[in-house]
Amino acid sequence: MTAAVAASERITIRKCDGIDELKACVALQKEVWNFDDADLVPLRIFVVGQKIGGQVIGAFDGNELQGFAFSIPGERGGHAYLHSHMLAVREAWRNHGLGRRIKLAQREDAVRQGFELMEWTFDPLEIKNAHLNLVRLGAIVRRYSVDHYGASSSPLQGGLPTDRLVAEWWLKSKRVVNLLERGQAPQFKIEKKIAVPAEIYAWKASDGDRAKAAAVQARNREEFLGFLPQGLAALGYERDAAGNGAFLLGRWDERWSYSSPFLDLSGNTPQEKGSQ
Ligand SMILES: CC(C)(COP(=O)(O)OP(=O)(O)OC[C@H]1O[C@@H](n2cnc3c(N)ncnc32)[C@H](O)[C@@H]1OP(=O)(O)O)[C@@H](O)C(=O)NCCC(=O)NCCS
Repeated sequence: MTAAVAASERITIRKCDGIDELKACVALQKEVWNFDDADLVPLRIFVVGQKIGGQVIGAFDGNELQGFAFSIPGERGGHAYLHSHMLAVREAWRNHGLGRRIKLAQREDAVRQGFELMEWTFDPLEIKNAHLNLVRLGAIVRRYSVDHYGASSSPLQGGLPTDRLVAEWWLKSKRVVNLLERGQAPQFKIEKKIAVPAEIYAWKASDGDRAKAAAVQARNREEFLGFLPQGLAALGYERDAAGNGAFLLGRWDERWSYSSPFLDLSGNTPQEKGSQ
């Protein structure tokens, strides 16, 4: 066992408790995204979220918060679901599995509460997040949202439009249960690929190269907006040795969906709760 893995095992994942722990989440949010104050989710929303059926789950090294996830309840087609608005891990602790462990704790708590669906948005240019969401957690993507939040003050966005993919995590689907509880990776026929070059992080961060990042975003936006309405979903993600990524699109063989004005799943009928 490496020292890093041993260290991460001493981290406890649990619900945040009390105002001081929620304040620590706000501070970590500021540290991770470096938002202007106007873009920060304030303490009071964390308090409200926790009180109305949402989740504030932290990763603690002793008493010190090293990561957290924040979700709030929503409604779609008469079904309650959770929208996970933020997942953050302090830089020094990244790539030790904490992000995944926090998501698994969110799932466990959500299932206990009777939820079937958790959603969140993520930037399609973030190769690491795409791998975590699709490959390690078993989320799928059927929706693309153009400039979802409008302009962002976070340097992570690199001044580009805030395009987002919507991750749907069907907590009790065969795909998710087989992956997380039996270690079986989902099988599907790859019909399309959408590529993201490894240089994307450097391009977003550099004034001189930002136009290249914008061109990748524009091309991928067009491809997603073309392919997703054809009934394709992003079901996998591959990375090569150089760090390039690619979304793998295919047809999902399960029919979990809640009807939504934002969701036209070309032929998929809304699913009754628990009928899958
Ligand atoms: C996204 C984030 C929460 C992930 O936390 P984490 O603790 O580092 O995540 P994990 O260690 O559980 O998993 C990371 C995975 O990405 C992989 N990874 C790391 N760097 C990568 C890269 N450049 N490209 C592709 N995959 C990468 C890791 O190998 C790991 O996969 P594995 O388990 O198959 O080995 C963290 O990076 C973060 O706080 N980012 C900034 C905020 C953010 O983007 N939040 C999410 C959107 S709301």
